Amino acid sequence: MSSLSIEGLAWAAPGRDRDPLWLLRDIHLQVGQGEFVGLIGPNGSGKTSLLRCAYRAYEPALGSVTLDGENLWRRTPRWCAQRIAVVLQEFPQEFGLTVADVVAMGRTPHQGLFDGDSADDAVQVAQALERVGLTACALRSFASLSGGEKQRVLLARALVQQPGLLILDEPTNHLDPRYQLELLGHLRSLDLSVLASFHDLNLAAAFCDRLCVIAEGRIVASGTPAEVLTSELLHEVFGVRALVDTHPLHAYPRITWITQP
Ligand SMILES: Nc1ncnc2c1ncn2[C@@H]1O[C@H](COP(=O)(O)OP(=O)(O)OP(=O)(O)O)[C@@H](O)[C@H]1O
Ligand SMILES: [Mg+2]
Repeated sequence: MSSLSIEGLAWAAPGRDRDPLWLLRDIHLQVGQGEFVGLIGPNGSGKTSLLRCAYRAYEPALGSVTLDGENLWRRTPRWCAQRIAVVLQEFPQEFGLTVADVVAMGRTPHQGLFDGDSADDAVQVAQALERVGLTACALRSFASLSGGEKQRVLLARALVQQPGLLILDEPTNHLDPRYQLELLGHLRSLDLSVLASFHDLNLAAAFCDRLCVIAEGRIVASGTPAEVLTSELLHEVFGVRALVDTHPLHAYPRITWITQP
């Protein structure tokens, strides 16, 4: 389990040195060991960009991103890949690869330059496919899977990477309700720190220990779901009206959208 610390981060769109377009500003965000932190905010608010900074894809112009006290930009991409796994919004175009091939790619950061997959790698791939309910699809082509099945394959690939921190960008996007609940329940049961973006605020409320709200590139609120998810905040940040009460069976908040004027 790892801890992530983002301090005073700012990031500007590349290629505009003379007239910087700041897309993330003054970001402070922590993910403690074993914590599940959700990032929520409107379309275009900066969630994906911030996640990219957190896994060393975008270099911040200001501030720092540290994993277990180590600045990511003083470490190699391989060092980061051994510790941080990522499940993105877009699917890779892995034409020709089987499901098992795609999952096995998650072992690469732990292998030497000319190593093939070991017997242990094969066991881990099989276990991860079983965990996501796709054992029967191991030899099918990745390209032939449905969106939700692809999403689960990419989760399996992230799991065999054996990361201390897992970063997910809208992980439940393509999943039906059963797999949404299974995936998030499964992530919670792992010995992992998780930072994930969400659009489904009820899922975020149900599974996250803490939420950070981002709007126009700045963190505007953070705390437990009950602290953060108020009808005032939802109106201010998303411009929608909602009733917020407590889930009848659980202690976390429940959001009911108000659709009538
Ligand atoms: N490389 C880039 N160059 C210019 N603008 C960019 C770049 N990357 C992101 N942006 C802009 O930054 C803003 C934030 O984008 P980002 O993808 O982080 O939003 P998001 O919160 O993930 O949105 P969504 O909910 O739609 O996924 C958007 O307006 C986007 O167009
Ligand atoms: Mg995004």
